[in-house]
Amino acid sequence: MGFNEELTDRVNKINNIIIDNLPAVQGKQKLLLEAINYSVQVGGKRVRPILMLETYKLCNGQNEREVYPYMAALEYIHTYSLVHDDLPAMDNDDYRRGSLTTHKKFGEDFGILAGDGLLNYAYEVMMDAILHSKDMEKNVKTGSIIAQKAGIYGMVGGQSVDVLLTDKPVGQNDLEFIFNCKTGALIEAAFMAGGVLAGANDDTVKQLEKAGNLVGVAFQIKDDILDITSTKEQFGKPVFSDERNKKTTYVTLYGMEKANEDVIKMSKKAEDIVKNIGDNIFLVELINKLINRIN
Ligand code: IPE
Ligand code: IPE
Ligand code: MG
Ligand code: MG
Ligand code: MG
Repeated sequence: MGFNEELTDRVNKINNIIIDNLPAVQGKQKLLLEAINYSVQVGGKRVRPILMLETYKLCNGQNEREVYPYMAALEYIHTYSLVHDDLPAMDNDDYRRGSLTTHKKFGEDFGILAGDGLLNYAYEVMMDAILHSKDMEKNVKTGSIIAQKAGIYGMVGGQSVDVLLTDKPVGQNDLEFIFNCKTGALIEAAFMAGGVLAGANDDTVKQLEKAGNLVGVAFQIKDDILDITSTKEQFGKPVFSDERNKKTTYVTLYGMEKANEDVIKMSKKAEDIVKNIGDNIFLVELINKLINRIN
């Protein structure tokens, strides 16, 4: 099987895991559950759960089912972050993952609530996994990492500074902070969770955090590039959203050439770290594939 076929295979498998773990659409709060299911099922590259599972394999994890709830939870947290990022009070975007954004489809109130519901549900899934786990400490540690990386010192913290500095002067330090937190943190969580669940030692987990940071920051730089160079059809979301929102991006701060160079440089550094830890050709290929992604 070639890389692209393998990737499709993995995305399909991950979609099953994510969808299996979703709440049933029923009861008085049916509309909320519909909005939640819509935001998750409508699509997405599933990069974070794939990275988590591949890191688990890189670290010789032997029972991949133990990773599934955390893969689902991280994708729910990521999806909620997108639902809220698209709201009129934030980036005010109408399309996401090739379809109408959740608030456009279900109204702003249900966009907010679907995000809240998804975030909370992610923790319900993780707590249940912890409760039923054989190695409680390892599982609590994994949940704790995901919680921290998603929170005020991670993704939410990054989004707050992104919003605060919209239409204001943004220096290199500010942009670095924003990228590390808003996008780096969840991808760091993916790498670290895979390692911790596989039983990697603290030193390896530190290395994985670094690799995740590099992949995550490169991922956001590429997102800023695609916001200019892609099309709505290919990207699945509006292009020139950053310009419309008067955002400082990696491209406006450093120019297109350096942006492209840095995506490659950071990805290569991440590749070196991964190769030092173990053998996973698919993971290395995926990191390289993200450099040239088109959506
Ligand atoms: C979009 O993330 C937000 C960023 C951090 C750039 P993805 O590009 O992973 O979005 P989906 O999950 O594939 O829709
Ligand atoms: C948002 O960055 C990253 C999140 C934590 C949601 P962007 O605002 O650039 O993400 P897109 O382009 O809307 O996906
Ligand atoms: Mg944004
Ligand atoms: Mg946005
Ligand atoms: Mg963007």
